[in-house]
Parts: sequence; C-alpha cells; structure tokens
Amino acid sequence: MLAPSRYKGAFGGRGSGKSHFFAEMAVEWAIMHRGARIVCVREVQKSLKESVKLLIEDKIQDLGVQRLFSVLHDRIETPGGGLILFQGMQEHTKESIKSLEGFDVAYVEEAQTMTGGSLEMLRPTIRNPGSELWFSWNPRHATDPVDALLRGPAPPPDAIVVQANYMDNPFFPDVLEDERAFDAQHSPVRYAHIWLGEYEPMAVGAIWNMATINEGRRSRENLPDLKRIVVSIDPAGSAEPGANETGIMTCAVGEDGRGYVLDDLSLSGTPQQWAERALAAYDLYGADAIVAEVNFGGDMVANTIRAMRPNVRIITVRAARGQSKHVRAEPISALYSLGKISHVGAFPKLEAQMCLVTAAGYEGQGSPDRVDALVWAFTELFPGMVRRVRDRDKAAPARANGQYRPHRWRG
Ligand SMILES: Nc1ncnc2c1ncn2[C@@H]1O[C@H](COP(=O)(O)OP(=O)(O)OP(=O)(O)O)[C@@H](O)[C@H]1O
Ligand SMILES: [Mg+2]
Repeated sequence: MLAPSRYKGAFGGRGSGKSHFFAEMAVEWAIMHRGARIVCVREVQKSLKESVKLLIEDKIQDLGVQRLFSVLHDRIETPGGGLILFQGMQEHTKESIKSLEGFDVAYVEEAQTMTGGSLEMLRPTIRNPGSELWFSWNPRHATDPVDALLRGPAPPPDAIVVQANYMDNPFFPDVLEDERAFDAQHSPVRYAHIWLGEYEPMAVGAIWNMATINEGRRSRENLPDLKRIVVSIDPAGSAEPGANETGIMTCAVGEDGRGYVLDDLSLSGTPQQWAERALAAYDLYGADAIVAEVNFGGDMVANTIRAMRPNVRIITVRAARGQSKHVRAEPISALYSLGKISHVGAFPKLEAQMCLVTAAGYEGQGSPDRVDALVWAFTELFPGMVRRVRDRDKAAPARANGQYRPHRWRG
C-alpha cells in the first residue's frame, strides 16, 4: 500500500480501519510531498461534518505534527503551501471538476456509493505526474462502479487492492465489538455484508436486485413534475414490541410516466402513531390519497385515520385470498426491470427487504412491511401495469391466484 501506485483500494466491512488507514496516509503524504494537494471526496457531502476532515485532524494530533499543519474552517493547509480539501462529487459539474486538475491525490471515502459518472469525471481530472487515487468502500454489488473498476475482470494494471475486515483491525474497539455481536445474532442475513464486506445479500431468485435499484436512483434536484403522489400503509398486526413494523411509503408518478419512491417513514408503533405519521407524509408531500391495506382489523385503518382527519381520501386495498406476496409484487418488480422506477435518495431498509423477496417467499426475518407498502403504492399508481398481469394470469389458470382486487372507498 505504501509503494507508489495510481490506484489504491481497501474494501471490507465496518470497523476494519479503512478510514483511519487512508486518513493517516493522507497526513503522511502531505509531510513527505511538500506542497501536495489532496482532495477527500464522497459522492454526497452535505456538510463538512460528513467528510473525513475531523478524522484527519485527529491523525495530525496523534502523529504529533500539529505545527506543520494549519486547520482552517473548510480546509487544512499542509507543509510547503499544500492543502487538503473536502468535497462532494454531486456538487461538481464537468466544468467545476477542473478546479481539481492540479491535485496529487484524491481519496474517495464510502466509494461504493460513487456513481459511474462521478468516477469517470474524477479519474482523468487527477492527472499530475505520480498522482494517486485512493478508494475505501464496503462492496454492495459487483456492478458498483468502484467495484467493477478495482475488482472487476480487468483492473488497472498497477492497482493495489486489499480486503480488510474487523478482525484485521488491531484497534477494533469494544463498542463496535458489541455492535458486531448484536448484528451477528439479529441481522444474520445482512451480517456478511455489513461486517465482512460481502456483497449485499441477494436471495436466489430474488425479484429485485441492488444493481437495478442503483441504476434508477435519482437525487431530489433531478425530479420531473409529479402527476400523482400517494402515501401507502401496510399496518402491523399489533403494536407489541417485536411485532412487525408498519410500512409507510410515499410514492409518486411523474409527468414523465415514471415512478418515484419519495420517502420511507415506516415505524413500529400504535395505530395512533402510524396514522399520525401517514398524515404528516400526506401533508408534507401534498399527496392525493392514502392507500391502506385492510387485511388486519377490517376498517380499523381507515377509521383510525379518519378519526384524526375526516376528509382525507383513503383508498383501501386488500390482498386476494391465498395470494402470495410475490405475485402481488411481481408487476412492480417488472416496472423496476423496465427502468421505470427511481428511488429518490437511498432507503437502505426498504432496499434490503426488496432484495430478499423471492418467488418462494420472503427470505428475511419477519415480514417485508416496507415492500408491501411499496407494492400497494405502485399498484395504485400504475393500474395499467397490474391489469396486464391480471389478464395474463387469466390466460394461465395455474396462476389464477394472482388477482388484484382493489376495493375503493372514498370519503
Ligand atoms: N490507526 C488507528 N489508531 C487508532 N484507532 C484505530 C486505528 N484504526 C482504526 N481504529 C479504530 O477502529 C475503528 C474502526 O476504524 P475505521 O473507522 O477506520 O473503520 P472503517 O473500516 O472505516 O469502518 P466503517 O465502515 O465503519 O467506516 C475506529 O473507530 C477506531 O476506534
Ligand atoms: Mg469508514
């Protein structure tokens, strides 16, 4: 890792010391290369707090070299007139990225979230002789652009890439050990990804995958006008601790005919709590209806909401008897495959559930309440899509269970 090489990467799970390693290397580089310019980037950096600035300041202290550096509000001045900057790639354009052309090192933190566009923009920008690109990441999928570049079939010839996990970190702290042990017990499905740097779990036969979800992802600034917005609720059977969550999703269809997941406000709570939450989303997003499932408790869902807000438009839906979840979800997963759905931002819990829904059932723990709410929302927003599948089901009697029977009820 210390030998010169244009590409250096460290991938692995949480707490493996990746960030500390590169932060230290940045400080050392600044000392060894007087006047060097280093930029620490992330795909999204809403504020400096999200950057590795504080970590680098700590490293300067730990190495006892404070007198060589001067820490300013948004940058760190380094020996010989060099500097360390902290930036988000999302804020850059083809034009603005040119400001980094004189830089010697770019360190990309949490690089699994870097888009192909950002990576393509960054690589040729860092062009000084002997300049280097450093990446640390926890792999989500082989199609993450950084993973494809550094672990794909043809990595750059002089790339140095290492895997690091918590057991390789001699400083692994007790607090993280407790976290790890907890996850090992309670999130066995996601454990290997979070702590061992394996790809996100994808059940065999899953009807969604992270690659498709990532491809569709958009930022909030990048939305068309929205034609319809709904809030959907998949109520939990009970509010007991340990009971299922209530899935609450806000989804929309744009003037461009595409679907957008705007928010995931799912929670574990009482009917009072989820009704309040759903109404808040309804107001916040200017939704035109609340789509509510009535499997449990009959009209309780609608009644609870109406007790708080008599005039809200509620569309109640119920699963056909004996219908399995994946049959209902399949037309919606088809919309994703067609590139018709964008997640506006990231919804890690929803997305983890999605990738565990298979034709044979849900392979996660409990019930995929967020996915259920998502499916109800898009079933309402894309009625044509669902009808097509229903027609096909009619032609194929073996799958006659797959019927969607919306039961509309307007206040
Ligand atoms: N060189 C070091 N000196 C002191 N402590 C360290 C060092 N490297 C790692 N640690 C300890 O290990 C912990 C995990 O390290 P670090 O945050 O770099 O891991 P990471 O691989 O970036 O994980 P994450 O995915 O959680 O960001 C740190 O919070 C710190 O307590
Ligand atoms: Mg880190």
